[in-house]
Amino acid sequence: MASHRIAVIPGDGIGPEVVGEGLRVLERVASLHGFEIRPTRFPFGAEHYLESREVLPDAAFSEIRAHDAILLGAIGDPRIEVGLLEFGIIARLRFDLDLYVNLRPVRLYAEHLCPLKDVRPEDVDFTVVRENTEDAYAGMRGFFKKGTPDEIATQEILFTRKGVERAIRYAFELARTRPARAGRPKKLTLIDKANAIRAMDLWTRTFAEVGAEYPDVTRDHQYIDAACMYVVRDPAQYDTVVTSNMFGDIFTDLSAMIQGGLGIAASGNIHPGRVSLFEPIHGSAPKYAGRGVANPIATIMAISMMLGYLGESSAAQHIEEAVADLLRSRRLPSLGTDSGFSTRQIGDLVIEALEQVRAAS
Ligand code: IPM
Ligand code: MN
Repeated sequence: MASHRIAVIPGDGIGPEVVGEGLRVLERVASLHGFEIRPTRFPFGAEHYLESREVLPDAAFSEIRAHDAILLGAIGDPRIEVGLLEFGIIARLRFDLDLYVNLRPVRLYAEHLCPLKDVRPEDVDFTVVRENTEDAYAGMRGFFKKGTPDEIATQEILFTRKGVERAIRYAFELARTRPARAGRPKKLTLIDKANAIRAMDLWTRTFAEVGAEYPDVTRDHQYIDAACMYVVRDPAQYDTVVTSNMFGDIFTDLSAMIQGGLGIAASGNIHPGRVSLFEPIHGSAPKYAGRGVANPIATIMAISMMLGYLGESSAAQHIEEAVADLLRSRRLPSLGTDSGFSTRQIGDLVIEALEQVRAAS
């Protein structure tokens, strides 16, 4: 029997609640599909930091990287200096494991979940490839004369040819292999801001050069400001999107809203062939922590992505179909904290839907 070792970091705020339901779904699907999950829990996050002053010790980092995959809930807590845990845990894992792709699928499963009028599920089905190791996130920053009227603050936006090329190449491969939608060409859209951030000329040139190797993929280009307008006006135009770290961060929160909100948006932080990390794209939402109202579906969808990555594609698909059926049933009026269902009840509904999908197949 296949066995997968998963490092689990529930983290802060609503993280432990949504991860708890995610793991229940994972156990269920593992037993239905005949593989084993061996989870190891790691306590890192705000509580652990307050007790021990430890963010993510090197020994634990080595232990985590020896797993087959990592599942993360959410990191961030208002009691702690902004960015300390986010950079010490999430960004550290992304950078030190060199997880250079942040893959964020955007898919609308049921019309009532979209806040835009007359947008149907077939209109919203694209994947964003967000570069995940460079840009302003590289942390080359500084303050000079801090706290004085003459203060200077800088943070470098940096791109390397290698970093840009591997993200773009991954996106072309994905665009080539993603199932084609009826009547639409395979398309990759580059989103940048090369008109103002001239360093992004590196993206323009790399996109053209790598694109020449993929004549079967139609190339498109948009500036990030225009893309924010188009994704609301005409989301159906997107198939695969590739963009830089910071624009990808912003564009995917906006995109998440048109698929029903942060309650469903999932992501994979990937280095092909290596241990990779899967997480909901929402944060720790401290306001809702401990109230049992957070929607666990984003984490459940992240688990589906993780299973796909681990080669358990029928289990991955089974979860996706169960979630899609549940959403199409309209039992959940929304995917927010106001759905009228508790975190646990939504976990139960997904497990029930898993059984129904199985019975129907
Ligand atoms: C995300 C988050 C992180 C990011 C934060 C928590 C550092 O917003 O995964 O999108 O900006 O990448
Ligand atoms: Mn974000």
